[in-house]
Amino acid sequence: MITLTKKKDRDFTVLNLTDPQLLTHEWEREHVGYKVLTYTVNKLISEIKPDLITVSGDISVAEYPEAYTNFAKFIDTFDIPWAVVWGNHDNQGGAEIIQKYVYEYRTYKNFVYQEGPKELGNGNYVIAIEEDGKIVHGIIMMDTHDRVFEKNDKGEDAWYWGKLYPGQLPWYEGVVNELKEKGCNETTIISHIPIYAYRTAYQAAWNKDYNPEDVDFEMSKTGVCWNEGYKNSFGVNLEGICSYEHDEGMFDLIKKLGSTKLYVCGHDHINSTCIEYEGVKLMYGLKTGRGCYYKAPYNGGTVIKINSDGKAQAYHHFCDEGI
Ligand SMILES: [Fe+2]
Repeated sequence: MITLTKKKDRDFTVLNLTDPQLLTHEWEREHVGYKVLTYTVNKLISEIKPDLITVSGDISVAEYPEAYTNFAKFIDTFDIPWAVVWGNHDNQGGAEIIQKYVYEYRTYKNFVYQEGPKELGNGNYVIAIEEDGKIVHGIIMMDTHDRVFEKNDKGEDAWYWGKLYPGQLPWYEGVVNELKEKGCNETTIISHIPIYAYRTAYQAAWNKDYNPEDVDFEMSKTGVCWNEGYKNSFGVNLEGICSYEHDEGMFDLIKKLGSTKLYVCGHDHINSTCIEYEGVKLMYGLKTGRGCYYKAPYNGGTVIKINSDGKAQAYHHFCDEGI
């Protein structure tokens, strides 16, 4: 468990960046991808002044090592602790490549990270936020791996988006219980690929009379495009929910334990919804920069504010692209 200290007189502020996903050549100074990403992150950090930066995956694509180095060099210059979970594109080169990036990232002075149990992937760990010697909130980082290869309904070989491994559920239960024993029952999960419940939540919450393409973010906050019971939701999903197609059981466990009230993921670059579903906010982080694919009005980051009682509030912080 990593421990960071919250100041008494103000909220502990987390800035989550997601899916920057620049390839090596996109880090050239004249490249629009470089310009937008560096402008966006600079602006977010100067406006939000975070105590911790989290990155919910897809820093680049595994086969572009220089891009990983460039990202780390850039983000470390802010002198703020930064932590990552790996995305499917980070993981797609296999376990050895990820471990190589972990070794490299450990050489940066502000990088905070733990591998966690080897059989559960790389990067299952907890960042405990402590005030006055008491843990008030736990940020639980969980690896969602790359892809899953299984037979489809027709018995053919097929691939599906990655998911939490079955062993990660008891691991999660263990860390939640450990935090409870230390007096903390407020946690947030950050991972890359959404869990299955993002699908059921969206099905329940979105009013299908509205085409998401016709709804902008401001309109999404008015409640009109949400069903009764979900009027405090916000954001727009402009693409499908690209997750494993069967229930991995994580949401039932989250509800049973009653500790995690916020789940933040990345992966679907142009989805930005936050839906409070059965007492848990299931939220997409706002994409940071232009890497891979993007929609300019949805550029920025996601802020998580944690107060002295350990309660977390999250919202998107939008940013122009500076070009
Ligand atoms: Fe992804």
